[in-house]
Amino acid sequence: MGFPKDFLWGGATAANQCEGGYDKGGRGRANVDLMPLGEKRYQVGTGKLKMTTFDEQATYPAHTGVDMYHHYKEDIALFAEMGFKTYRFSIAWTRIFPNGDEQEPNEAGLTFYENLIDECRRYDIEPLVTINHFDCPMYLVEKFGGWRDRQMIDCYLKLAETLFTRFKEKVNYWLPFNEINMILHFPFVSAGLCFEEGENEKQVMLTAVHHQLVASALATKLAHEIDPKNQIGCMLAAGSYYPETCKPTDYWQAICDNRESYLFIDVQSWGYYPAYGLKWAEKQGAVIPFAEGDREILQNHPVDFISFSYYSSRVSSADTTKTQTESNLFASVENPYLATSEWGWQIDPLGLRATLNELSDRYRKPLFIVENGLGALDTIDADGQINDDYRINYLKAHIAEMKKAIDEDGVNLLGYTTWGCIDLVSNGTGEINKRYGFIHVDRDNFGQGTYKRTRKKSFCWYQQVISSNGENLTINESYNKKKWGTTCLRIQEI
Ligand code: BG6
Repeated sequence: MGFPKDFLWGGATAANQCEGGYDKGGRGRANVDLMPLGEKRYQVGTGKLKMTTFDEQATYPAHTGVDMYHHYKEDIALFAEMGFKTYRFSIAWTRIFPNGDEQEPNEAGLTFYENLIDECRRYDIEPLVTINHFDCPMYLVEKFGGWRDRQMIDCYLKLAETLFTRFKEKVNYWLPFNEINMILHFPFVSAGLCFEEGENEKQVMLTAVHHQLVASALATKLAHEIDPKNQIGCMLAAGSYYPETCKPTDYWQAICDNRESYLFIDVQSWGYYPAYGLKWAEKQGAVIPFAEGDREILQNHPVDFISFSYYSSRVSSADTTKTQTESNLFASVENPYLATSEWGWQIDPLGLRATLNELSDRYRKPLFIVENGLGALDTIDADGQINDDYRINYLKAHIAEMKKAIDEDGVNLLGYTTWGCIDLVSNGTGEINKRYGFIHVDRDNFGQGTYKRTRKKSFCWYQQVISSNGENLTINESYNKKKWGTTCLRIQEI
């Protein structure tokens, strides 16, 4: 019993949050490049404030990120040292097609990812590639208004086909879109959407997501045709909604809120919009823009597995005047039974087991946790160590619940990639100081720092978790304080 012997332990990042090099190697400008640090970020991300050029007064931490563009070899060596079996990363669309609609791809961009993939393979790390993690070429945003236009499907498929062909035999696990339900919460980031005064925003978002769903099904078809070994997963920003009380109206609200999250995954997994989803669209005064053949495309090309991010559970109340808290851009009533992170996200390890069970019951397909982690302020001690026991405790509690879901509930779980295995830029706030990594990067919100990488205490702990295949979760002080800042438990030089 316990974790399967081929369980895929690893970590996850996204191009726009770690690579930097936003204008290197012929890369074009993307929507996410225009996301500033500070109070305007939320307005831009939600499509309320249109930003098409850089604001001289603003700071854009993602332009340099943690410079993985130049440090990827060093970073992958560190992942290998932790024992990663897989590394989830995303492709910056504008490295491959700078404007998004070129006939030929940009060779420098393809070479960059090819080198990165080869580097993973060198250490037997299975690449898990997100084709589209919150980025869209600005040229297409301006030309089409982002995913509201159906022509985006062809541009995206060109990207997908280029990747499937070039990386055939090297990559077997693909996620067509990150957190597809995030469109309803961060539409400019998820789909390049900006809204015009007075338009039905739900209609625009539903149109965009329908286009992404068709694109995802067609990408699945292509991936299977190009290499039958390819495994394609959908990706949900997960976290079950609990009713705030046992009042039937609160319970009903929780059902509705959960359905709003599941709707698009239902389509990707089942191959059709469920009846409640069609009714929901109607209630929003929106029409799903089916073109001829769409229903067959969705029906014939469902995903192979269900991947998801999990940071927190959420709470629903029928009382709309209740004060809401926020976690990963989802509003929720505060749960008094849970602890809260420094960024106000509530911490609920058992909620992960509940979510795993719900997804398993609903879809009957293998599951993959592709994001989970704690964003926290780390401090460097006088002796240079980073004692992030809080991060270890968070991950430890979640892994223990995963294990129960496998052992006691029979959940089929393929793997686990923690979010931000190396410090990176926060999607929600734009901060680097909201750190998730096992590896500290000397860089702050305002572009100060040397990019030097340092192993945190959690680095050694995760190394032990992986080498024991999830059996040994204890915090062992004999990691050797003297060592973990430099060599940790490194067994051999690679
Ligand atoms: C997920 C995203 O929603 O949450 C990541 O897929 C993101 O891109 C992560 O970074 C954590 O959120 P944040 O706002 O702390 O970066």
